[in-house]
Amino acid sequence: MSVKQNIDIQRLPKHIAIIMDGNGRWAKQKGKIRTFGHQHGVAAVKDTVESCAELGIKVLTLYAFSTENWKRPQFEINALMQLLVQSISKETPTLMENNIRLITIGDTESLPSGVSKKLKKVISDTANNTRMTLVLALSYSSRWEITRAMKLIGEKIKKGELDPAKIDEKTIDNHLCTAGLPDPELLIRTSGENRISNYLLWQIAYAELYFTSKLWPDFRREDLYEALIDYQSRERRFGLTSEQLSPDHA
Ligand code: FPP
Repeated sequence: MSVKQNIDIQRLPKHIAIIMDGNGRWAKQKGKIRTFGHQHGVAAVKDTVESCAELGIKVLTLYAFSTENWKRPQFEINALMQLLVQSISKETPTLMENNIRLITIGDTESLPSGVSKKLKKVISDTANNTRMTLVLALSYSSRWEITRAMKLIGEKIKKGELDPAKIDEKTIDNHLCTAGLPDPELLIRTSGENRISNYLLWQIAYAELYFTSKLWPDFRREDLYEALIDYQSRERRFGLTSEQLSPDHA
C-alpha cells in the first residue's frame, strides 16, 4: 500500500514551504563538485511541484537562492543562475499544462538581467493559471523582506497615507512579498539541519516544522507524503487548549 493512501485529502495544508538543502553534500558523497548536486536537485523540484499540484496544495514556496548565497563562489552562483533559467524555460509548458502560476519573492532586481527577463516572461505567461501557485524565493531573506516592508510603510506614513496608530498585523502582511498568499502551514527542510535560515520568519508563526535527513536531490514525492502524514498527526492549537479545539467545546 502506498503511503499516499494514508493522507487525508480534506486536511491538507494550503501552503507548503520548503528549504531545499543538501545539494553540495549529496555531490560530495559522490565525489563530484557542488554544482552536480544542484543539477540533480532539479529532478526533486520537478517531482515535488507535480506531486503538490496532484494532491491539491494551493501554494508551494521553494527557497531557491538566499541573499546570503551571493557570497558563494562566483562559479557556483553562475551555475545556479544558468540552471534556473534552463529549468524554467524547459518547464514552462508543464506549468501551463498543469495550470500552475509562477511568482517570485525576493530582491529579483539583483538577479542577472537574463534571469530576470526570463522570469518576467514566465510570470506573465502563467499569470492566469489557477490550480497552484509556485513561489520561487530568489535572492530572498526574511530580514531583507521585513526591512523592505518597514520602508514601504514608513513612506506611506510620511506621505500621510497611513496612520501609525492603525498599523496592525494585516498592514505588515500586506507589505511583505507574500501579500495575498496564505501563510505556510507546513515548513519542510531537508538535509538534517534544524534551522530556519532567514526564511519566511513572519509567515511561519504557526507553521508545523518538519526536518528530514534526506538530502534535497534524493527528495521525492514519497518523502513529501511522509511529511504530510506527520503534519496531519499533529494537533495544531494556535495558542488554544486541546479542550477548546474539541468539537464538543461550547
Ligand atoms: C542548497 O543546497 C540548495 C541551493 C542553495 C539551491 C537550490 C537550487 C536547486 C535545487 C536547483 C534549481 C532550482 C529550481 C527552482 C529550478 P546547498 O548547496 O546549501 O547544499 P549543502 O548544504 O550540502 O552545501
